[in-house]
Amino acid sequence: DWNPGNVIAEQVERIRAQIGDARVICGLSGGVDSAVAAALVQKAVGDQLTCVFVDHGLLRQDEARQVQEDYVQATGVRLVTIDAEAQFLDALAGVSDPEQKRKIIGREFIRTFENAAEALVLEAQSDGEAIKFLVQGTLYPDVVESGGGTGTANIKSHHNVGGLPDDLTFELVEPLRTLFKDEVRAIGRELGLPEVVVSRQPFPGPGLGIRIVGEVTRERLDLLRIADAIVREELTAAGLDNEIWQCPVVLLADVRSVGVQGDGRTYGHPIVLRPVSSEDAMTADWTRLPYDLLARVSNRITNEVAGVNRVVLDVTSKPPGTIEWE
Ligand code: XMP
Repeated sequence: DWNPGNVIAEQVERIRAQIGDARVICGLSGGVDSAVAAALVQKAVGDQLTCVFVDHGLLRQDEARQVQEDYVQATGVRLVTIDAEAQFLDALAGVSDPEQKRKIIGREFIRTFENAAEALVLEAQSDGEAIKFLVQGTLYPDVVESGGGTGTANIKSHHNVGGLPDDLTFELVEPLRTLFKDEVRAIGRELGLPEVVVSRQPFPGPGLGIRIVGEVTRERLDLLRIADAIVREELTAAGLDNEIWQCPVVLLADVRSVGVQGDGRTYGHPIVLRPVSSEDAMTADWTRLPYDLLARVSNRITNEVAGVNRVVLDVTSKPPGTIEWE
């Protein structure tokens, strides 16, 4: 029988065997997967672990602060935060292709972890032995959909699987690689992580970078951040957070349509709402949100987000759509 306690005991053994007494870093994204992966490694090897939070500029409003407050307070783990916004946005400049964006983001994450690992070694004035272990919260569906499973096509390169650079020097520690999200949540609860962390809706590592259809720029990210915050605020106010799996908010930066506001013509971008219900993200259905909630969200976004003059609802299940647009 599947039981979180057994999985924890088994993974702690494995992690100890793999890492020994070496130092290890873990990229923390604020999401459930990396939080639970880090907690497992912390349980296994204690303060040999340092967590690294990369602020890549593709985060939602308030995300960096939440990681600090929710996770670090609960676990007491050592956390290094790196401001990598300029690095990521420079690397993404001029790029519209979804797979290219994913590969660039995956590569820049690894570069950032490499630099962080070097800095940690220098700081510790240790004997200079490089940190070679990197923990990732890769789940089974990430592996399958990145083409790592048997007999599956490559649907999209999840940033921590198919998006890794070829010259990766880290040895990966991936204690969740055979698990589904609901199992990961059960393990997180068993490990004593706070409910705000464990029940958090999924948010992809590449962040808003794969929710802008078109080139990623700071201005577009700022627009999308406002729209996304409105949607999350209204969903929470309506008490629907637990009804949905997640609700990506997507900016169609390459599309413009004609609108009218006051006495004037507008020529702005659409925002797509993508509310989905799912058990494991392998399949999903679009969530039938109440019309009055949709109306409120639409009014607020068109009034509060400059340059957006239309809000549309994605009514596609997965398959044939994927949850994220890119
Ligand atoms: P798709 O779009 O493939 O998404 O239907 C399935 C689930 O995975 C999340 N997702 C990602 N998570 N790195 C992540 O950590 C990624 O590169 C990535 N791509 C998609 C997505 O939000 C959904 O929950």
